[in-house]
Amino acid sequence: MQARGPLMIEHRLIERMIGFIRDALVQIQSVGKVDPLFVDTAVDFVRMYADRTHHGKEEEILFRDLDKRPLSPDDRRVMNELIEDHIFGRQTTKALVDANSRYRDGDETALAVIAEKLKTLVDFYPKHIEKEDEVFFPASRDYFTDEEDQAMLAEFWEFDRKMIHEKYKSVVEGLKKPH
Ligand SMILES: [Fe+2]
Ligand SMILES: [Fe+2]
Repeated sequence: MQARGPLMIEHRLIERMIGFIRDALVQIQSVGKVDPLFVDTAVDFVRMYADRTHHGKEEEILFRDLDKRPLSPDDRRVMNELIEDHIFGRQTTKALVDANSRYRDGDETALAVIAEKLKTLVDFYPKHIEKEDEVFFPASRDYFTDEEDQAMLAEFWEFDRKMIHEKYKSVVEGLKKPH
């Protein structure tokens, strides 16, 4: 498998989650409410899987290695756009978390914000994924030898191996001791 393999497999799961978010939007429009637990699930997926695990491998391994290469102006521009997209995704998710907690506390006006942020994710992710799958990943492959590509793949697996430990360490560290 090439290094881009796991990234593209992860894109397919992200697309499936985007499908459920799209369904939730239809539901919001028809019944005028949302299940805050679904929003929690979507947020956890986007933060932990799409951002930390997936964008983490892109930024901390693939983009890091590409940054040392003599990238064409076009490839560098696209890489910078992708990094900006990741930042935009984080900001959108943060706003979604805030709106969801207001909604849970009874603020009905937060529903419109939840819908807007979910819609942003639905519009943004497929375009971002297409840019990577169709344009950026094929272009970036040319900057690496087969050996370098395989070394990146090995580093991706190592990155994933640590993820579950990082996640639950942060869960425990986030808990407060009872007084
Ligand atoms: Fe990305
Ligand atoms: Fe990606």
